[in-house]
Amino acid sequence: MEVLKDRASSRSFSSEKLPLQTLSNLLWAAFGINRPDSGKRTAPSALNWQEIDIYVALPEALYIYAAREHELTQIVKEDIRALTGGQPFVKDAPVNLVYVADLSKTDSAGKQGADLYTAADTGFISQNVYLFCASEGLATVVRGSIDREKLAKAMKLRQDQQIILAQTVGFPQK
Ligand SMILES: Cc1cc2nc3c(=O)[nH]c(=O)nc-3n(C[C@H](O)[C@H](O)[C@H](O)COP(=O)(O)O)c2cc1C
Repeated sequence: MEVLKDRASSRSFSSEKLPLQTLSNLLWAAFGINRPDSGKRTAPSALNWQEIDIYVALPEALYIYAAREHELTQIVKEDIRALTGGQPFVKDAPVNLVYVADLSKTDSAGKQGADLYTAADTGFISQNVYLFCASEGLATVVRGSIDREKLAKAMKLRQDQQIILAQTVGFPQK
C-alpha cells in the first residue's frame, strides 16, 4: 500500500550515481528471473515471449541487462544518455533505461499483435521500476518522447529491434 501511495513521475534528478547494489536490485525488480526453475520473470509477458530487453545507459557506457546471468553486458562504450530523450534532465540523470522489443520473438502474433503485446509487456516492467523506485526513495519517469531513429542508431540496434519506451531513474534533486 505504501509504494502504491508513493508511486509518481518525477522530472528532477540529481546526477549522483546509484550504488551498484541499488542498480542491481532495480534491474532484478524490473524484469529479473524470479523463478529459476522455469526462467520466468518479475513481469508477465505475452505468450512468455520475454521479448523486452532492458538497455541501460550509464555515464560510462550503454549496457544490456542479461537476466539469466543477472549481469550487464557492454554494448557501446559511449555516453548516449542525451540521445535517450528530448527532455533536458535525461543527459545528467545517472540511469536511463531503454525498453527494446526483440521482434524476432514475436513472429507468431503478426504485426498488430506484436505492437499491442510489446507495448503491454513494457508497461508491466515500467511499473515494476516505478514501484521499486517508490520503495527506495528514487525519482523516475517513463518516457515515450524519443527520437527513436537516432537512438536506435546510437544503440546499434538491428532492424528487428524496436524501441518502445525509456525510463529515467536517479536520486531526487535536493
Ligand atoms: C506511455 C507513456 C509515455 C510517457 N511519456 C512521457 C514523456 O515522454 N515524458 C514525460 O515527462 N513523461 C511521460 N510520461 C509520464 C506521464 O506524463 C505521467 O505518468 C502522467 O503525467 C501521470 O503522472 P504520474 O506518473 O505522476 O501519475 C509517460 C507516461 C506513459 C504511461
